[in-house]
Amino acid sequence: MKNKELIRVGFVQNKPIFGNIHENLDRVEKLLDGHDADLFVFPELFATGYQFKDMAESRSLAEHIPGGTITNALIALAQKTHTYFIAGLSEIEADQVYNSSVIVGPEGYIGKYRKIHLFDTEKVCFQVGNLPLKIYDIAGAKVGVMICFDWRFPEMARTLALMGADLIAHPSNLVLPHCPQAMITRCLENRIFAVTADRAGIENRTESLKFIGQSQIVDPDGNILVRASETEEEVQVVNINLEKAREKFLTPHNHIFNDRREDLYRS
Ligand code: ACM
Repeated sequence: MKNKELIRVGFVQNKPIFGNIHENLDRVEKLLDGHDADLFVFPELFATGYQFKDMAESRSLAEHIPGGTITNALIALAQKTHTYFIAGLSEIEADQVYNSSVIVGPEGYIGKYRKIHLFDTEKVCFQVGNLPLKIYDIAGAKVGVMICFDWRFPEMARTLALMGADLIAHPSNLVLPHCPQAMITRCLENRIFAVTADRAGIENRTESLKFIGQSQIVDPDGNILVRASETEEEVQVVNINLEKAREKFLTPHNHIFNDRREDLYRS
């Protein structure tokens, strides 16, 4: 596309087999076949599965970022397809394990985010994220990253939006029903795009967990541009115009950031 405000973004909704990294990577590559975008977002922990029993197990499937198997496979795919990927995986650094997302592109490794709001038993399988939030320049877009349960904390999307994000990439493994609707509000209140890439399927390890699918792309007016099924593997791509996220005036008199009353919000 000529106008760099127009980009193509997409998600992959998969059903990983727990612990089977190579098969899960192959499956995602097959799902992507015939689909073309500037940026694809993959689910949280997309190549390992979600339900670790403890920290020892999440560590056993974790990798160094950069340098690990999944990161290297994504970089190879990015170079082959001239695409950017943001994808969730288990990260190890100095014996600490994080629920992370990696950002890669044709130029190689770009960055990572470590989930800061851990959900339920993730607290026994991962350390809480410890990296500053960052905005990445991806295919002309300013992109912020959050992972799944981060949606429940409006400060997260707000902070990324105030830092300049046009779009939030949101790798997820959703089990609660509310997130798809809540992300509409996150987009409206910040006038940003969000790409939530969820997984589908069921994991029966320590308990039976059903993932809700419904990956989606939402625009700054809260329109759902596309939403996936609850149960199937899917890839969807839409064209978005980043100009829409850069217009923060709602009316000539209302600017969504400048009208905030930070002087009154804290008691
Ligand atoms: C979640 O944060 N994976 C529910």
